Amino acid sequence: MLTKSFWQRFIPHAKSPDTKQNVCFWQVDLHSHLLPGLDDGVKSPEDTLICLRQLADWGIQKVITTPHVSRDWYPNGTAAIRQGLATVQELIVQEQLPLTIEVAAEYLLDDFFLDFLNKNDILFFGNKRYILVETGWSSPPLRLNDMLFRIQTHGYIPVLAHPERYVYYHTDKAVLMRLRDIGCLFQLNWMSLCGRYGSHVEKQARYLLNQHCIDFIGSDLHRPGDLKTMERLFKPSDLKLLEEQPLLNASLMI
Ligand SMILES: [Fe+2]
Repeated sequence: MLTKSFWQRFIPHAKSPDTKQNVCFWQVDLHSHLLPGLDDGVKSPEDTLICLRQLADWGIQKVITTPHVSRDWYPNGTAAIRQGLATVQELIVQEQLPLTIEVAAEYLLDDFFLDFLNKNDILFFGNKRYILVETGWSSPPLRLNDMLFRIQTHGYIPVLAHPERYVYYHTDKAVLMRLRDIGCLFQLNWMSLCGRYGSHVEKQARYLLNQHCIDFIGSDLHRPGDLKTMERLFKPSDLKLLEEQPLLNASLMI
């Protein structure tokens, strides 16, 4: 496992001269699966601690973890997710980890989500009421634009999780980019830049970075084994591209 020198090595040119070198410039990790037993993420409190310790060592100051919510695979209710958060918050205090944790969710855009939306029972994040959403892997929901519009009319801002990973947008980039035109923000997985999901995803990630349209970066960390992959960050050129994005992560510190 690498130590703080990882960030010192890869981010020697922190934006503010006052910034401690061991602080990651996006400060807040958005998107992970670190509440044990709620989804396909970490399986035990011990694994949660391993992940949080490493994120803290890499200079992350706040984690907004996002359990999956979907009718077919992870029908997690808000109360269960909040209970999971309370348990991990206790662990952080006990272990004196130098970061904080909050919770939101990664909502699959299905009817289960619409029920939560209609009841206003939504785990959003940030002062601007962002909601992290994902779509199916094989094809986008038929009513994607309608779903995004509904989210907005309920007073939230949709954030599409890992837009670079949807294969059906690899050949039709214009359709993907139009989602931004209608007010959907994009969250990039940092493991996409490490080749974790294959070269096509890595290529799409760089395409999006070159379009300067990444609003949030997140680990999408599921288990301690992912940390090894994440250590491969960053190519200096990727880091430069990340610094050029309109990244909103740090705005979530408040
Ligand atoms: Fe995820």
